[in-house]
Amino acid sequence: MLRIQNIRSFYGNLLVLKNLSLHINEGEIVTLIGANGSGKSTLLKSIMGLLPPRQGLIVFQDKDITHLRTEKIVRLGIALVPEGRHIFAPLSVQDNLLLGSYSRYSFRNKSEVMADFDRIFDLFPHLVKKRKQLAGTLSGGEQQMLAIGRALMSRPRILLLDEPSMGLAPIIVEDIFAKITKLRSEEKTTILLVEQNAEMALDISDRGYVLETGKIVFQGPREDLLENAEIKRAYLGK
Ligand SMILES: Nc1ncnc2c1ncn2[C@@H]1O[C@H](COP(=O)(O)OP(=O)(O)OP(=O)(O)O)[C@@H](O)[C@H]1O
Ligand SMILES: [Mg+2]
Repeated sequence: MLRIQNIRSFYGNLLVLKNLSLHINEGEIVTLIGANGSGKSTLLKSIMGLLPPRQGLIVFQDKDITHLRTEKIVRLGIALVPEGRHIFAPLSVQDNLLLGSYSRYSFRNKSEVMADFDRIFDLFPHLVKKRKQLAGTLSGGEQQMLAIGRALMSRPRILLLDEPSMGLAPIIVEDIFAKITKLRSEEKTTILLVEQNAEMALDISDRGYVLETGKIVFQGPREDLLENAEIKRAYLGK
């Protein structure tokens, strides 16, 4: 579904992604793990057209999207839940969600947007009573739910999640991961999950990749990563 082939991405003269290749099949949950600064967020920015690679190819459903603008990429069916959530703090929960439908808004009538609200509130019933609350006053877990909900408002085929568990209590993390699993099973959303919380992420994944200083150094099915001695030591704290 999404194929990344030999990409090189830079910040100015700093080469961050060094001929990186990976792919995600339709319906998969794939986890990308890697230390701080290894380039995980940079990869997601490259996919979204926020930092297009200078070399290499990004193909989504047989279409070359390497140099498309971000709005176009969102419209094709890719959405990002950014690291740190970046919700619009002075706006209500509802208005944050509404902004998530921006890419499709002109094509849709109000009832479709309302139906999308219902989908999000079905997934995160906790947000229903917070509808009118200012997003900046939500708890960390609620903000993460909102960030995911906002991304879902564009009706993505594939959702890119950048460290959704960051700073959250284990029980909230479990809840968020359960919702990610549900999105895949019920809405057939394909998932690329970037996580430092490697073990929990791998537990809900089909496959995983390990990124080190801009290069993929290991890839395989979930079990291969969970059982690999070096990965256990470096990323699973065992
Ligand atoms: N806007 C930027 N300008 C210059 N360099 C940057 C910028 N953003 C990231 N970098 C550098 O690119 C490299 C990869 O950063 P990136 O944010 O992709 O890492 P990461 O794997 O997401 O790390 P973390 O786990 O801390 O989120 C780092 O060396 C970082 O300093
Ligand atoms: Mg990051």
